[in-house]
Amino acid sequence: MNFHVLTLFPEMIDTGLSTSITGRAMEKGLISLHTVNIRDYSKNKHNQVDDYPYGGGAGMVMAPGPVYRAYNAVEEKIHSKKKTKVIYLTPQGKVFNQKIAEELAKEEDLIFLCGHYEGIDERVLDMIVTDPISIGDYVLTGGELPAMVMIDAITRLVPGVLNNKASAEIETFHDNLLEYPQYTRPETFMDLSVPEVLLSGHHGKINNWRREQSLIRTAKMRPDLLEEAKLTQKDLEFLKKEKLT
Ligand code: ADE
Repeated sequence: MNFHVLTLFPEMIDTGLSTSITGRAMEKGLISLHTVNIRDYSKNKHNQVDDYPYGGGAGMVMAPGPVYRAYNAVEEKIHSKKKTKVIYLTPQGKVFNQKIAEELAKEEDLIFLCGHYEGIDERVLDMIVTDPISIGDYVLTGGELPAMVMIDAITRLVPGVLNNKASAEIETFHDNLLEYPQYTRPETFMDLSVPEVLLSGHHGKINNWRREQSLIRTAKMRPDLLEEAKLTQKDLEFLKKEKLT
């Protein structure tokens, strides 16, 4: 999986993704990260990349030329047979979720376009963007953090990145359920004990308890997810018994 990021702040992306699991995935060659500074493609003598908006209004708009040339440089490097997806980070896009992460994890190359200021000239967006994506209903100062969020979520789905395949599968959002609570040593912390069942060594009972905890959490915190979840007859009976439906 090769991530290409068009941005005015490449160091933000490089630094943010170079540690922990994403950093290790790069060291292992499971992913690559290639940041491109849009400013390097300015033809202006002051390396300016933004300009006043036609029609007036507050703020500046990123000019189409540097963005287009930066994109072309990346496309030439990829030279893939099929068109590489170009994700534009914008609060006006489709809202990112685990399902989209799973779809994008199947791609070999992905190009992310990060805007700043009041946005990017619409003409170049129309020409190159395939997928406008938002990471949630709030407005950030630029697309860099959203691109990092997406790259992180996609990277952990790349085979070999997490040492344990099961952990990517069982956790939060698999089956549209939130993850059950986790505990580690000590057995008693400030007079609070670990739930008895987890010490029982009885895997059937443990799995059952975890499933119930997932159902309780999802019903209480994210009832919207429960509507899409694949529930068994036993799950439905449990929710009814707990008065959670
Ligand atoms: N740029 C600014 N805000 C954003 C958001 N919420 N999602 C994606 N890109 C953005």
